[in-house]
Parts: sequence; structure tokens; C-alpha cells
Amino acid sequence: MKGLIADLDIIKEETQNADESCGFEVSKEENTGKSRKLYIESYGCQMNFSDSEVVTSIMKEEGFDTTADIEKADVVFINTCSIREKAEQTVRNRLNAFNAVKSKRPELLIGVLGCMAERLKTQLLEEEKVVDMVIGPDAYRDLPQLVSTAETGQKAVNTFLSREETYADISPVRLNSNGVTAFISIMRGCDNMCSFCVVPFTRGRERSRDPHSIVAEAKALFEKGYREVTLLGQNVDSYKWSPNAELKGKQQIERAGETNVVVFSDLIAMVAEIDPRLRIRFSTSHPKDITDEVLHTMAKYNNICNYIHLPAQSGNTRVLDLMNRTYSREWYMERVDAIRRIIGEDCGISSDMIAGFCTETEEEHKDTLTLMEYVKYDFSYMFFYSERPGTLAAKKYVDDVPLEIKKRRLNEIIDLQRKLSLERNQRDVGKLHEILIEGESKKSKDHLQGRNSANKVVVFPRENYQPGQYIIAKVTDCTAATLIGEAVEEVKF
Ligand code: SAH
Ligand code: SF4
Ligand code: F3S
Repeated sequence: MKGLIADLDIIKEETQNADESCGFEVSKEENTGKSRKLYIESYGCQMNFSDSEVVTSIMKEEGFDTTADIEKADVVFINTCSIREKAEQTVRNRLNAFNAVKSKRPELLIGVLGCMAERLKTQLLEEEKVVDMVIGPDAYRDLPQLVSTAETGQKAVNTFLSREETYADISPVRLNSNGVTAFISIMRGCDNMCSFCVVPFTRGRERSRDPHSIVAEAKALFEKGYREVTLLGQNVDSYKWSPNAELKGKQQIERAGETNVVVFSDLIAMVAEIDPRLRIRFSTSHPKDITDEVLHTMAKYNNICNYIHLPAQSGNTRVLDLMNRTYSREWYMERVDAIRRIIGEDCGISSDMIAGFCTETEEEHKDTLTLMEYVKYDFSYMFFYSERPGTLAAKKYVDDVPLEIKKRRLNEIIDLQRKLSLERNQRDVGKLHEILIEGESKKSKDHLQGRNSANKVVVFPRENYQPGQYIIAKVTDCTAATLIGEAVEEVKF
């Protein structure tokens, strides 16, 4: 089950084909005969949804089956997001609803997980709402102990952030899976300090996961019938793993030349080598870190999808400086030129944009619009600036763009994106596309849907095709959000 949490996200949903950054997910009913039931609801980014799969795996070991019905639950977890104020407000509303259930059934245990747990720590216990457990994103191995503590009636808290934890050895329980596509976390945390962003505070220092465990997870998924993996990290291009990971800092850099250090371009090649029938995607790429090496590796392997999520945030260099993004408008444009040169015009490119950051002028906002025109994004996630306590921007700058202006600028960005998405989709009409079928179309039982390499959803009549198959489809029509077509033939490998 997937839903939308904010009004603006609804506008956004209309302009985009895939909204995986701002939804919520609820655990499914599962009965493997275990004695207790866990209900888990997740908000925020894909990494958070991935974490919920790790949490479910740990709780399964502890004797919990999942349920989709809070009334049946012994433990309720809410895996939370702090990225914008609205995200936190949604969680608070849900906590009120959970508390209404708990008032009838006091033995029900309620745990807050994830970024809001990390940001607010014991404050969540002190507020009037009844929360039994507060568990930060690096403390999930401690869950069995924390649940036991809560069962004795004590409050249980662990919000320690780790420099090492990657949950590499935990095999996630796939929640809400279509059986075809899955997400794999390849790193945790973030060492960038974008001034608007709360993530470095809620997720801690950046660390990369052992590539062998990543390849093993991808292989296991492939063997179970999955045909696409998306490698996840806040900044995948800075993925770097060294066999001497126990060496720290300078020592590690000095040793880097002489050891088998694995960087992101190596990692995607390693996963691509598993099988040509396994597609590879990744998110998120940081414009300052995406190298030609990565682009050449993408061009070399047919099964690494031609799609890059490359958030710009703004098209104006002064604003980018204030945001501490460490690149300029020109740098960003050069990276886009490199994508078009090395991978091609058809490579899908998407962005995140923030309207109305501190001190942004009308001219500077227009630079965002002209950058969008330059890149011709296939789609974007678009937000207005929401000040987050504790961030560099909250400390250093005044949030001085009035809400009305932020909203108007955001709407201009959304309108332009809708136009660009339509134009980009129109280029695809009349062409043949290789599609991986993911499942039934959301709107019609007689249609299936899948994605092309550039991450565009293609809807076509079902005939006798099945999820997990690759087909060639001819695109005959489109909207700003979807390509419409018909299957031509199955792809034989
Ligand atoms: N690691 C990713 C982004 C993670 S957060 C990256 O570097 O691109 C997802 C998006 O939320 C960001 O790209 C940004 O556009 C948006 N965002 C983050 N903090 C925000 C804030 N304070 N107000 C509005 N949007 C924000
Ligand atoms: Fe936040 Fe910047 Fe890190 Fe992305 S790269 S998570 S925007 S600090
Ligand atoms: Fe939200 Fe945390 Fe992800 S703040 S966007 S859930 S990393």
C-alpha cells in the first residue's frame, strides 16, 4: 500500500510517473505461525523503506509475523522522516491515532524509529504522547533488547549513531514487493553538509557496505526471480570500500592505491556482471561526485539503466553556494553535457528542486527555470524550502522568502516540469523500447506496466505477458506521466 502525505505531493504525483521519495508503506499480512504480530508503517525516502525491511527481518527472528491491521498488533513501529516539517507533522498525527488504539489496549507497544527518533531523541518520550520505544537508524540490532525492556513497562531508547553499521549481514524481508524489482542499501549516512538538510544529523557519517555482501544480495534476489535492483545511498557516487576498512582516515587513503579499493563504478560493474537479465539502477547521484568513469560503465553495460537522478536543488550559483552544494550552475551543466555525450540524448535525467531557499531573489529563481529548460528533465521531485532546526541554514540564514512566494515559485517549477516531461515523453512516441514488466497497470486490469531503461512507465495491453518478462514495446501515445504502447515481442537473451 502506498499513499501520499502532503498536498503538494499530490500536485507532484500528477506531474510524475514514479513517486518513491514521499510515500508511506504499511506492512502486509503474513502468517508463518509466529506468536506475535508487528505492524510497521514507514515514511520518507526509499532508504527508510529499505530499513523497515531490515527491521522486519530482525523482528521475525524474535518471533514476530507482520500484520496490516493495527488492531491485531502486539508492537507498532513507525519509521519516520524529518526532511520537511510536513513529514514530521504527519508522523505526529499518526502517533495520535496509535495512541487512541493504545488507550483501549494498554499492552500495545509503540516504537518510533528512523530519522525523527534520531532528531528528537527522548523529547518524544517527554511529550504528552505515549511512546514506549525510541530507536535511531543505527540501533536496529538492539531491537530485541529494546522490545524486552519496553515489555517490562520501562521506556526503551537507543539513538546512538555508528561509524560502521551497514546491516550488511542482515537479509531484508521484502515488504510490499512486486517480486520483480527490489532496493539494496549500499551505504548509510551522509558526509555532505547541504545547509538545508537534516540527513547528516539523523543518519550520521557516511559508510559504505562490503561489496561482496551487496553482490550476494543481488544474486539471491535474481535467483528468486527478481529482475531489477536499485542501489541506494544518499550519495552513491562517493561509495568507496576498502578491504582495510578498519584503517581510518589518512592511513586508509594512503593504502588506497595498493589495495583493492572498490569505488562506485567498480560496484555497478560487479552487480551488472551477475546476469544480463538483471537490471541495475541507483539513486542518488550527487553532481559534485558523478564521474565520467561511472558514465562510461553505464554506457558499457546494457543492463545498467540509462537513468540518473541528479538533484540540482537550484539553478543559481549564489544559492547553490548558500546551500553548500559545492558545485556551480556551470559545473552542473557540464555534468549533464557529459551524460548526453557519453550515454546519449535518451538517458533519463531527474532532479530535486527547492523553491524559495533563504534570500533567493526572483532572478535567481528564474535561473532554476532556465536550468530546467537546459537539462530537459524527464521529471523532478519539487519542494518549497522548509527550515529544519539544527541545520546550517537554520543557524546562519534567515528563512525570509514569504510562504506565498515560495508556493508561487514552486508552482512555476511544477508547471515547467509538467511541460518538459510531456516533451520528453513525446520524443519516445513511435519508437521501440525494451521494457521490464513489473505488474498490472494501476488503472486497468487488462493492462500491464513496466519501465524502459530511462525509468519511464509504459502501459500496454496484457495479452499473455507476465511480470518479470522483458519485452519490446512500441510506444504509440503518451501523457506527461506515462508512455502508452503495445507489446511487440518478448526479448530473448
Ligand atoms: N541525498 C539526496 C537527497 C536527500 S533528501 C541528495 O543529495 O540529492 C531529498 C530531497 O529533499 C533533497 O534533494 C531536497 O531537494 C529535499 N529537501 C531536503 N531538505 C529540505 C528542506 N529543508 N526543505 C525542502 N526540501 C528539502
Ligand atoms: Fe542531504 Fe546533501 Fe546529504 Fe543529500 S547530499 S542527504 S541533500 S546533506
Ligand atoms: Fe527522511 Fe531520513 Fe530519508 S529524513 S528523506 S527518512 S534519510
